[in-house]
Amino acid sequence: MRNSKLSFKKSKEFTSRIERLVPGGAHTYSKGRDQYPELSSSGIIKGSGTHLWDADGNEIIDWSMGLASVSIGHATPQVNQAVIDTLSQGVNLSRPSNLELEAAELFLETTQTDMVKFARHGSSVTTAAVKLSRAFTGRKIIAVPKEHPFFSFDDWFIGVTAANFGIPDELKKFTVTFSYNDLDSLKQLFVQYPNQIACVLMEPVKFDPPKEGFLEGIRELCDQNGSLWILDEMITGLKMGVPGASDYYGVKPDLNTYGKGFANGFPFAALTGRSDIMELGGISRSGDPKLFLLSSTHGAESVGLAAMMSTLKLFREENYVSKIWEIGTILQERLNRIIKLEGLEDFLQLKGYPCNLLLNILGPDKELDWTFRTLFMQEIASHGVLFQGIFIVTPSHTQSDIGLTCLAFEKACGIYKQAIDTGNAKKLLIGPEIKPVFRAII
Ligand SMILES: Cc1ncc(COP(=O)(O)O)c(C=O)c1O
Repeated sequence: MRNSKLSFKKSKEFTSRIERLVPGGAHTYSKGRDQYPELSSSGIIKGSGTHLWDADGNEIIDWSMGLASVSIGHATPQVNQAVIDTLSQGVNLSRPSNLELEAAELFLETTQTDMVKFARHGSSVTTAAVKLSRAFTGRKIIAVPKEHPFFSFDDWFIGVTAANFGIPDELKKFTVTFSYNDLDSLKQLFVQYPNQIACVLMEPVKFDPPKEGFLEGIRELCDQNGSLWILDEMITGLKMGVPGASDYYGVKPDLNTYGKGFANGFPFAALTGRSDIMELGGISRSGDPKLFLLSSTHGAESVGLAAMMSTLKLFREENYVSKIWEIGTILQERLNRIIKLEGLEDFLQLKGYPCNLLLNILGPDKELDWTFRTLFMQEIASHGVLFQGIFIVTPSHTQSDIGLTCLAFEKACGIYKQAIDTGNAKKLLIGPEIKPVFRAII
């Protein structure tokens, strides 16, 4: 294990250069400078398995895994080979390709749904699901849990976050919120907006498991009130199971959205669901209004589809979900042991399922404190572990990754303890604090 802390001089220079050319310095705000401590890797040169190499030549362990899109590992040879094979056939073939049909067959068989529309980004498919629910029900309002942080960068969702600059006020009233695990809060919405809610859109779970009967209760409420139930499985897909959490919990939404890990980092997303709803986006009902559901030049180019098919096959053949849970359980147990040994149980708490573990980092008042949080992240990053608060576990994470992560974690805990004991994290911080990604003011 590296004893001394790493140098990030070139990473810092890289960050300054890219911010002059790219607003925010990244194409996803979650990857930006304000989301990481100053002492951390950037200008990543390459990735392999679970390791990345940064601008300074540091080899680091990745627990962010491309914001959960890299579900197997960076540069997985089989997935890359499937992409290479498809490249030689051309990638955008002017009319629907044979690969589009094969991909639809495999995807629908895996997700046990009737019809599918493919896309490149998660935001496109959640927005399409919203549009479809409005067309199907003739209603306008969308209900989402306030605890679920992100569904789309489109106006209907960003308008109700703190980062709603640039979005007309008129649009904000169409998205309303309830509380996850509180059925009554959703019941109240149905009372407040009778016959107006087009859909309830949510992730099946974030970190706190659903209370008994909660998901089934949502199903019932949607049925009683004529609203559609949409489960966004961007994060839970290929983590909770194959295809994801609806299967794990045994519930059946009307529409599902998938993306992220389904193509091991290649661009892929999908909207699936009941054919009587999905068919509204079709062209076979002559004389009916045409719904422009999802339509884009790169919607079904071959690279994403080939990567998705290869990823799905590997998940099915290699039993990757069990491996992910096994690895995650070992990590969870070891980290919990360290937290306990250090006596930090009140300030560092692991939450969620082994496949997707959140580390709650709390300050001296046992509340979220951005200075303390940044300090912990700084100490972890300085020992070569790329970690953004959630451990995205893949089948490629090794015992050695876990061992090195635990060493870094132990060292970070030591410093954190000092900060908690003295009530001062600021003096140990190098650089500015991390800030929430959804905020009103830069
Ligand atoms: C639950 C959820 N839905 C939708 C999205 C949007 O996906 P994308 O970034 O591919 O547009 C995300 C992305 O983080 C997500 O976590």
